[in-house]
Amino acid sequence: MDRRDFLTGAGAAAAAGIAAATTLSAKADALEDAMMTELDRRVIEPATFCDVGGELTFDPADRRPFLQGNDPRLPPMPEKPTLIDFFKLRFGPSNHVLQSAAYARKNGMEEKVVLACLLHDIAVESFIRSDHGYWGAQLVEPYVDEEVSWAIRYHQALRFFPDPAVGYEYPEAYYRFFGRDYQPEPYIVEAAEYARNHKWYMTARLITLNDLYSFEPGVVVNVDEFTDIIGRHFRQPEAGLGFDGSPVAHMWRTMIWPNNFL
Ligand SMILES: [Fe+2]
Ligand SMILES: [Fe+2]
Repeated sequence: MDRRDFLTGAGAAAAAGIAAATTLSAKADALEDAMMTELDRRVIEPATFCDVGGELTFDPADRRPFLQGNDPRLPPMPEKPTLIDFFKLRFGPSNHVLQSAAYARKNGMEEKVVLACLLHDIAVESFIRSDHGYWGAQLVEPYVDEEVSWAIRYHQALRFFPDPAVGYEYPEAYYRFFGRDYQPEPYIVEAAEYARNHKWYMTARLITLNDLYSFEPGVVVNVDEFTDIIGRHFRQPEAGLGFDGSPVAHMWRTMIWPNNFL
């Protein structure tokens, strides 16, 4: 990590620690410490679901050694949770997908593309980061048009490949994230090639196009703005997500109770 880059982005606590050090060598040590902490933070713990933060405090009278049931750090979910309940109580922060969907709608995209944008990164936000397109597609597969889940699956690979014909450039941020010489794994190259020649290519490509401009700080979009589109294009199971006996119900239950011992 470049020291100057690090200092520009250093948090207030790290900066104060470095400033408070009185000698040059103490300052260097404080900088080193702060950089180590920052590097640790960059490795996202795979076991952290639903952005659980804060101290885990239990009722002292509860002598059970393991957590099984509601995690006190998370708001409890309704008995029959809807997609919107997940947006409000589990996905978070979901500003990125909400902004993408709002941008797609502003661009006059058809509703299923807006829905695809709304759901395209829910795996990153609440479930599993790695291979998020595949996990995200699987989560919604029983409830959306096949084209929507297909597009969510393949947007992950297509993000790495420019398509100048439609104005899609390689994301500048990826140079910073992964380095200038980063080459996607062969399975990603193959998936992108397959998607490129598929009849639904443009639906997945549109996710990537509306994705690029969707990190706008200060813009807050509420999921309620998409109630109609969700109602028309997401087959909400009556028993609630997690309890409908679908092949992915367990994945939604895991987001309800992400830290169950078993
Ligand atoms: Fe994504
Ligand atoms: Fe995204």
